[in-house]
Amino acid sequence: MQRVTLRTAVAADQKPLEALQWRASLSNPADREALLAHPEAIELPLQHIESGHVFVAEGGGAIKGYATIVPRQNGHCELDALFVQPHNWRQGIGRHLVEYCCSQAKAAGATELHVVGNPHAQVFYEATGFVALGTRKMRFGIGLLMKRCLL
Ligand SMILES: CC(C)(COP(=O)(O)OP(=O)(O)OC[C@H]1O[C@@H](n2cnc3c(N)ncnc32)[C@H](O)[C@@H]1OP(=O)(O)O)[C@@H](O)C(=O)NCCC(=O)NCCS
Repeated sequence: MQRVTLRTAVAADQKPLEALQWRASLSNPADREALLAHPEAIELPLQHIESGHVFVAEGGGAIKGYATIVPRQNGHCELDALFVQPHNWRQGIGRHLVEYCCSQAKAAGATELHVVGNPHAQVFYEATGFVALGTRKMRFGIGLLMKRCLL
């Protein structure tokens, strides 16, 4: 497993994290064409960073990935973004980010972490403790509704 540390994102991270999101998203062949046609779909809202819910994974002085959680009205949390640098995939960084998001969501009082997952990431989410609840039609295809219990 790649050694990484986690920290809360700051405003100066916005552009580097959007660039990372761009690289990670384009590495999914099924999404590539739609994203190249709609580059505006790649964004990390500054409000998410300012809310203190964006977490950055760093190792060897470089950003390796990031994740965002968004509290829901019902007290649960949503994993709103999760991206790892493509050349760092399969090194345990995504799992590390999920565990960190779970601990942060739990500390905020949530008992469930939900995600609308990209189908290509289904195996990853299952491996990190999420169970499938159903599907939802999204802008560029089908999203997998999944949740992880935090109790
Ligand atoms: C999905 C993503 C975040 C996974 O990050 P990662 O750092 O590569 O994941 P990890 O190394 O922590 O993988 C944890 C486990 O998930 C499973 N897994 C992860 N990627 C997998 C793959 N491509 N195929 C099969 N299993 C996979 C494995 O069980 C893995 O454990 P192992 O390597 O010990 O076998 C990363 O591939 C990514 O950024 N993808 C593009 C963006 C994206 O689709 N994000 C999700 C949006 S919903």
